[in-house]
Amino acid sequence: MRRGSLLQLLAYTAVAFAVGAAVALLVPWLPSPASKEAGRIWFVYWFATWICISIFAIVAAVVVYALVNFRVKEGDLSDGPPVHGHTTLEIVWTAVPFVLVTAIAIVSSIVLAKDGRAGQNPLRIKVTTQQFAYYFTYPNGMTYHDALRIPLGRHVLLDLESNDVIHSFWVPAFAQKSDAVPGLHNKIVITPTKVGTYPIICTQLCGLGHALMRNRAIVLSPTAYEAWYKSAGAPTPSTPSSGGSAAAATLFKTTGTCGACHTFTPAGTAGKVGPNLDHLKADAAKAGQPLENYVKESIENPDAYITPGYTKGVMSGSCCKQLSSSQIDQLVQYLVTNSK
Ligand code: CUA
Repeated sequence: MRRGSLLQLLAYTAVAFAVGAAVALLVPWLPSPASKEAGRIWFVYWFATWICISIFAIVAAVVVYALVNFRVKEGDLSDGPPVHGHTTLEIVWTAVPFVLVTAIAIVSSIVLAKDGRAGQNPLRIKVTTQQFAYYFTYPNGMTYHDALRIPLGRHVLLDLESNDVIHSFWVPAFAQKSDAVPGLHNKIVITPTKVGTYPIICTQLCGLGHALMRNRAIVLSPTAYEAWYKSAGAPTPSTPSSGGSAAAATLFKTTGTCGACHTFTPAGTAGKVGPNLDHLKADAAKAGQPLENYVKESIENPDAYITPGYTKGVMSGSCCKQLSSSQIDQLVQYLVTNSK
């Protein structure tokens, strides 16, 4: 190969590599990692990405070189020289991809194994999913609905299950992600490395409220976590409603997860999946029932009367089944006394 051609090829390669590198580095493709696992997974991403950018640069350089140097010349109608095979080239283009793909496989499997390790004494938290909410149950038996609180630096083993359909648990900044499947106990390990609040997102289309199935993970310093965990025996509602009892508001917002789907101004919820509960009186009148009966029936047997514009089977699927009859009565009273 002529020296000039080689220099030309190298120059094209450098330019193509610079373009690929700029696209990779100047766009914030990945959130900054907030767990050990995410750090390792991002490493695999970048490892594979740099290999891809290198190959892209070489291929792009050869294509551009061929376009520039082998353009058909005026009046030249001859064929190219007949070439049959090139053993060295064939060995190279077989061996190089083999080495690269094997390297990616080895790096990935090491990371996969490390990210699955929960260590000797992980914090075990049961994550229960349900249309359209998350419940977090701690070793002391307490269940929370407002957030997943975890301590910095400790292995957290999440045991995912579902009460109805397939959901998933994903915190982009933690990178670890798994489906929550009815009848299965999928597990993921998270070791937080940064104090902060991160969104939890359901990534399986699980029904009308899927897009609203969000929660948050709060990473606390070990001391703040211990303080919260010790004092959290009796969770206090964060914002007591005006007019209704605070306990009923908590029941509405968290235990019953009603607020995930329903707008109800006294509870401060803005769900859009189900009917707006601020208009209960008008809806009861339309259904031709006394308000209290209407509310109770709508909770216990949601399909008995469907507010015009809504779909059967959405609410009856699962929510409310975990409520006791006294809790339902409490909810009915709360809704009846607070609705307009
Ligand atoms: Cu649960 Cu999507």
